[in-house]
Amino acid sequence: MGIIMNLAHRGASEYAPENTLAAFYKGLEMGAHGLETDLRMSKDGVIFLHHDDQLDRTTDGTGSPVRLTWKELQELDAGAWFSPAYVGERLVSLDTFLHIFGRKPVQLVLELKEPGLEKMVIHSLDEQGLLGKVTITSFQYNILHAVRKYNGAVRIGYLVQQWDEEKLERLRELEAQQLCPRAETVTEENVRAIKQHGFEVRAWKVSSEALMKHCLSCGVDGMTVNFPDKLSDALRDM
Ligand code: G3P
Ligand code: CA
Repeated sequence: MGIIMNLAHRGASEYAPENTLAAFYKGLEMGAHGLETDLRMSKDGVIFLHHDDQLDRTTDGTGSPVRLTWKELQELDAGAWFSPAYVGERLVSLDTFLHIFGRKPVQLVLELKEPGLEKMVIHSLDEQGLLGKVTITSFQYNILHAVRKYNGAVRIGYLVQQWDEEKLERLRELEAQQLCPRAETVTEENVRAIKQHGFEVRAWKVSSEALMKHCLSCGVDGMTVNFPDKLSDALRDM
């Protein structure tokens, strides 16, 4: 059995504001093997880390980030919504994220939230010499298809609501390495089936410790968690 990947979902997002440097550093302190984050683009073409298609939930801005330049986005507070302790946290550009965490011995998982980023993401990774340490993921097949067109070697993970036989064909078309099913749908049988076809299984939306333990007992290769400390403990006890 290889190492089971403990991936901090948007950083250690249970303890610090998601997709901020504070959350990523905390994830690593808590023993995560890797960091997962979400990518979007500003009005002037800067790729940055942000989950929602609106700014309201996790910043003091409003509306779609596409309306704002990177300079304007950098003025927003991305930590106060979470706790006063994080006032002053800023949105993070992809280049900064890669520059800081690309040099550390951790895996990086980039989720492309919208089409149109593929070529630039590959370019940034190539420029920083990081194509080999990243997994690019998306729920959208067309996005992953474009990623594969731009680069034949980068690792691809296909995010799906749940596993079914049809996904295999899609994984093969994408020359993907990994299928990422929603944790609640993971069973020992489907993990075995996916692995038998040569793909890794990485679960997402692991919303409780019980679900985390369920996924471990089913034999997944890794999972994204908001609480990497609890997964570190569970892996130590295995
Ligand atoms: O790990 C995949 C997961 O991040 C996908 O869902 O909504 O958290 O981006 P979401
Ligand atoms: Ca994500």
